[in-house]
Amino acid sequence: MMSRYCGRFLQRTASQQLVRSKSSASNPSAAGGYLTSDQVFERESRYGAHNYHPLPVALAKAKGANVWDVEGKRYLDFLSAYSAVNQGHNHPKIVKAMQEQSQVLSLTSRAFYNDVLGEYEEYITKMFGYDKVLPMNTGVEGGETACKLARKWGYKVKGVPKNTARILFAEGNFWGRTLAAVSSSTDPDCYEGFGPYMPGFDIIPYNDLGALDKATQDPTVVAYMVEPIQGEAGVRVPDAGYLQGVRDICSKNNVLFIADEVQTGLARTGRRLCVDHENVRPDMVILGKALSGGMYPVSAILADDEIMLTIRPGEHGSTYGGNPLACKIAMAALEVLEEEKLAENAERLGKIVRSELSTLDKNIVTSVRGKGLLNAVIIKETPQYDAWQVCLRLRDNGLLAKPTHGDIIRLAPPLNLSDAELHESLDIIKKTILSFL
Ligand SMILES: Cc1ncc(COP(=O)(O)O)c(C=O)c1O
Repeated sequence: MMSRYCGRFLQRTASQQLVRSKSSASNPSAAGGYLTSDQVFERESRYGAHNYHPLPVALAKAKGANVWDVEGKRYLDFLSAYSAVNQGHNHPKIVKAMQEQSQVLSLTSRAFYNDVLGEYEEYITKMFGYDKVLPMNTGVEGGETACKLARKWGYKVKGVPKNTARILFAEGNFWGRTLAAVSSSTDPDCYEGFGPYMPGFDIIPYNDLGALDKATQDPTVVAYMVEPIQGEAGVRVPDAGYLQGVRDICSKNNVLFIADEVQTGLARTGRRLCVDHENVRPDMVILGKALSGGMYPVSAILADDEIMLTIRPGEHGSTYGGNPLACKIAMAALEVLEEEKLAENAERLGKIVRSELSTLDKNIVTSVRGKGLLNAVIIKETPQYDAWQVCLRLRDNGLLAKPTHGDIIRLAPPLNLSDAELHESLDIIKKTILSFL
């Protein structure tokens, strides 16, 4: 039977054919021919664990805000690899940094010094205004590191009795998939079946300063780890003043404020950090994702000496964390954010996204929310369609997005989206939504 994808392939244009012939060099089948999208899906399903439910589209190539599937069809990327590709796919400056450093020195481990790590440490700490950085790889390792630092600080500085430290998290939080991260999750899909769970973690409601104040009066509480906007929970934006309130309460009750900026940071919400919207300085900031512009897993924890120096040699680390290749990539990724004024672009384009999409029929899109280019539309689900079906039709019309929770579709394109690409995208979204009326 000929698949939908094969049919589409037969209709390709000359330019799409060029893309296919270039991109398909990277996806030969075991038999030596080239794979269709359906064959890509089938191969992953056959040999890979089923821990994801991808939108059925098989990508082979990307540039800026555009991606192409194995048949050569172009799409606008409105997920940006969960905000890892803020700088756009394959940004030439980041690619160049990666190519150059990979030919010189990639990995030494931290058993030895290397001539790049210090340069990066100086660069990132001065940029964000913290005494020190601890380099890791993935976002979840950033969260784990912040929790370890908070516990050490609790015992060594705050004077919490041994092994009694508590860390607070917000309901709806998401910070990854390790056992510690799922232990703090309130989403059964994340935690169910993975117990026993990490002790010493408590949940409070998000966007509730009264609950935070009450919980932080417990003298064994050492930290509150929170996303300035909850990304995976469906782009939940707290009330204005919440972040300032968190800062004040944490200071008053001698509790560390840990900002998980893995998704919201690095220009995504229209500021360098999302906490900058309220001019707030957390005690620890966790960065990841766009810290490498999609090239390589790079994460970082920023903090001052009082916290960072509680961990001594041998007490924490990572073979790849702080390797010269990652450091060069991260510096290039950070430079791109500044040189191309991506926070300003996100702020400006985000306002257009929200104002244009808020005019959509309320029978389908009940609300639009977000900051900068981290936005979401809430779909009114009916027996006829849901957010997944809307995403499938968006894909058919040339735009890739994914539901976060049930009825919520996150819209998070690369931040160097051009005005023309933005208007093309908005046209696709509007046309798609109207087609459900
Ligand atoms: C806010 C937040 N923190 C942490 C993480 C975990 O990052 P990683 O998947 O790189 O471990 C994510 C991933 O989506 C995230 O959104």
